[in-house]
Amino acid sequence: MTKIAFLACSSTVSGAGKRRGDLFEHDLMIAALEPALAKRGLDLLVADWASPLETFEGVDLALLGTSWNYQDQTKAFLAKIDALADRGIAICNPPDLVRWNMTKTYLRALEEAGVRVIPTLWREIVTEKGVLEALDVFECDRVVVKRQVGAGAEGQELVARRGLPGPDWVFDQPAMLQPYLSAIATEGELSFVFIDGVFSHALVKRAADGDYRIQSLYGGREEVYEPSADDLASAQKVCDAVPFSTPLYARIDMLRMDDGALAVMEAELIEPYLYPVQGPQLGELLAEAIVKRV
Ligand SMILES: Nc1ncnc2c1ncn2[C@@H]1O[C@H](COP(=O)(O)OP(=O)(O)O)[C@@H](O)[C@H]1O
Ligand SMILES: [Mg+2]
Repeated sequence: MTKIAFLACSSTVSGAGKRRGDLFEHDLMIAALEPALAKRGLDLLVADWASPLETFEGVDLALLGTSWNYQDQTKAFLAKIDALADRGIAICNPPDLVRWNMTKTYLRALEEAGVRVIPTLWREIVTEKGVLEALDVFECDRVVVKRQVGAGAEGQELVARRGLPGPDWVFDQPAMLQPYLSAIATEGELSFVFIDGVFSHALVKRAADGDYRIQSLYGGREEVYEPSADDLASAQKVCDAVPFSTPLYARIDMLRMDDGALAVMEAELIEPYLYPVQGPQLGELLAEAIVKRV
């Protein structure tokens, strides 16, 4: 029997002592995927990516699913997916694409390919002086400071010109600075899900009152979004600009700029949550795309 592995992590896999607050997203992904795979005669194994290699004996394809701790253990994570690939297991998305997507400097490559990206300054370390520089370059009054390797808004800082962090403040890791875009608080963040390069569904994500982070861990909520033809074309352009063979899945996160056009915030190609509730066809589409790869 063909066996598909869904790589979770210690805090999303069932039976874990301490499961995360956004665990329902993991459960929803499995609920969407398992029956669609079963219908096609494919067996699903849900396992922590850090499990011993033997756990993956007999697996044909491994989906990077809810491995939501890889950003703090990138070396071990890459070594594991390389080892699985060496055993002949198809990895989706593949290790070379994962490596490319792991550091947000990939946004520069997308920009060079003609995609509109949120204006960004790239720095190895950020101090108050660096924040002031960004505020001036972007002619704005708030900037977002993020990790170049990050996820889930972890370690992120929103700094206002009228609330500077002080001379002792240091953001001590490779960073990216962007103007705070007010669209996050009005329209929200737009996500476009593509399976095998074909648009499946879109959603709009809004933060809880008093926050600007749309992640469910911070109280963010999402609903179905019907994109205009122009918006959809902008998202498709990002998906098409990814310089690898068509990814099994992609989630393109975008924010509207002041001139009304969408700019890409992230192309999520490693282990994005794909919002099966807003796209009930997701399980079927994923299973179809998986069948083509085994
Ligand atoms: N330039 C920005 N303007 C407004 N909000 C932002 C901006 N960049 C990030 N955010 C907010 O912070 C969240 C996390 O940032 P993101 O770039 O998606 O990093 P990640 O999801 O990898 O942690 C976004 O979902 C959004 O809510
Ligand atoms: Mg994000």
